[in-house]
Amino acid sequence: MLSVITTDVERAADAIRTGGLVAIPTETVYGLAADARNAAAVRRVFEVKGRPGDHPLIVHLASADEVGDWADELSGAARRLIDTAWPGPLTVIVPRAGGVLDEVTGGRETVGLRIPAHPLTIELIERTGALAAPSANRFGSVSPTTAQHVLDDLGEWLDPGRDVILDGGACPVGVESTIVDCVADPPQILRAGGVPVEDVLALLDGDVADATGPSRASGMLASHYAPRCAVRLVDGPDDAVALRAGTPRSEILDLTDDLARYARELYGRLRDADARSVGTLIAVLPPPVGLGHAIRDRLTKAAAPRP
Ligand code: TXA
Ligand code: MG
Repeated sequence: MLSVITTDVERAADAIRTGGLVAIPTETVYGLAADARNAAAVRRVFEVKGRPGDHPLIVHLASADEVGDWADELSGAARRLIDTAWPGPLTVIVPRAGGVLDEVTGGRETVGLRIPAHPLTIELIERTGALAAPSANRFGSVSPTTAQHVLDDLGEWLDPGRDVILDGGACPVGVESTIVDCVADPPQILRAGGVPVEDVLALLDGDVADATGPSRASGMLASHYAPRCAVRLVDGPDDAVALRAGTPRSEILDLTDDLARYARELYGRLRDADARSVGTLIAVLPPPVGLGHAIRDRLTKAAAPRP
């Protein structure tokens, strides 16, 4: 039997064309993709992911020339973000064009768009057209940053006869895209991510609201990026060492001296702690600058009380 993991883009394109799902590598995390024009395929994304059907998916494009097929009337802010940050870890929320499936937008009048910076996935989208995809993890768990993570999470829900995992290596950014709602006036940052918040502010001349507080866009529940182990947050290495001394089966996670590496390795470290049955992961929070915003956000969610 063929392995569900492949590096063959044409095999992945065939899976999409015949209504199957493809786990796609991106620079941020792996996505679970369907043809964005195929309602039945998009519905299967929700089944495989175990995600409520009213949560919108991001539409992934290969070229900014396709934006007009998906969005109506772009604001100046949306244009500036698209022109500067794509391909890259930035999603814009814009008014949706007619014909965009409700299955993709969760019934909203807006749609999230981005061009991922990953050559294999760009090649795939050039062959298939736009792909609707959330992160390729089961709902509520940590996003996958390798093909193996996708297999670990979704293997039993994927259909080896129709779905594939396109292996593009480890994701170089490691946290999800920054999301900017460009329908709001001024635009609002809904999720801190791979493009630092400071860069968004600079691009939009500071005319941006930061909505990344506790009440957020749909689908951004408080405990969303949770491993099984307990996560405790501390502000510095001394606090971490003190806490570890009094906490059985605990380990320290501290990559604060290299924030790009902290982001890149974060989800893999959480998964690895679970695989080794660590009881408590004591994570040192990075400063709220650059990628530090996104890392703090994900760590805070990983540490939030579970429902
Ligand atoms: O980096 C990423 O963004 C990855 C890769 C695969 O592209 N995708 C990702 O998708 O993180 P997902 O579904 O796990 O997170 C996307 C978030 C969700 O919280 C969803 O609610 C929000 O984006 N979103 C998507 N479309 C939206 C819309 N029209 N309005 C408001 N929020 C939207
Ligand atoms: Mg997700």
